[in-house]
Amino acid sequence: MTQYGFIGTGSMGSMLIRKIIGSGLVTPGGISASSKSGISARALAGTTGITAEASNRSVAGNADVLFICVKPLEVRGVLDEVRDVLKPDALLVSIAGCVSLENLRDWAGENVHGVRVIPSVTAEENAGISLVAWGHGVTPGDKNLVLGLLNAISTAVEIDEQDFDLYTNLTSCGPALIVAMMREFAGAASRTGTIPPKLAEYLVKETMVGTARILEGGQETFDNVIGRVATKGGSTEEGVKVLETRLPDVMDEVLLALDAKRRVVAEKVAGE
Ligand SMILES: NC(=O)c1ccc[n+]([C@@H]2O[C@H](COP(=O)([O-])OP(=O)(O)OC[C@H]3O[C@@H](n4cnc5c(N)ncnc54)[C@H](OP(=O)(O)O)[C@@H]3O)[C@@H](O)[C@H]2O)c1
Repeated sequence: MTQYGFIGTGSMGSMLIRKIIGSGLVTPGGISASSKSGISARALAGTTGITAEASNRSVAGNADVLFICVKPLEVRGVLDEVRDVLKPDALLVSIAGCVSLENLRDWAGENVHGVRVIPSVTAEENAGISLVAWGHGVTPGDKNLVLGLLNAISTAVEIDEQDFDLYTNLTSCGPALIVAMMREFAGAASRTGTIPPKLAEYLVKETMVGTARILEGGQETFDNVIGRVATKGGSTEEGVKVLETRLPDVMDEVLLALDAKRRVVAEKVAGE
């Protein structure tokens, strides 16, 4: 039976473990995990039935497929720690932003098969996109395995590593960016009117959920949805015009800010 290891059981690592168990593709008995303090890994073992190991080396030494779910600046240290116990031909799946496939090969060794995945918190709801880029040594069997897992909890999209950052902005940063915009929308309603903030938040959230359901399945285009609500000569059309005038600059600035921060982290990762 394929043995899965997870190093890092924070927000993303624990979600991936819960979701792949929930998919039925992997049983709890096939998963072991570790974390820095051990607390989150033990807590997850208590709720899911996986094995919490006391060390990263125990997890890595047993794993046919090893997920690295720690922050970008922790990845090198973790791989230095486990490199000599990795199984030959182990499949290494890193979800860390700013850690390249080249970094993985340099730090984990040539024998290991490297994959980069950027999941999204939307996988919690079996929705959204998981990005994947294939690295050195990856076989068709590795691809089937990774795509099978990702498609069970989301939709996997295979891309070149050079496109990762731009796509990540949309799929993985997207939930926070969209919700931040909606928070401002609700905030404006309570600033300019008499709606209490909590009620404004509730109304916007419910509207977002309904709008997402209209968009679900990909048949409806953005333009169609806008056209159904912002009818010619109506008040919504005026609001949409303001957004169309002001938002392009704001969104350009958002993407530039994400890029700038990523460059700083990538430099730190490379210079470690
Ligand atoms: N959050 C997102 O939406 C998202 C999306 C896509 C990709 N990612 C990537 O996912 C990775 C994890 O992010 P996260 O949001 O899950 O972070 P997080 O919640 O802070 O979790 C980090 C985990 O790493 C563990 N850890 C840290 N140093 C370790 C070490 N030396 N050995 C073993 N475990 C160690 C921590 O252990 P403790 O539990 O003991 O503290 C914790 O369980 C990041 O690289 C991020 O770029 C995140």
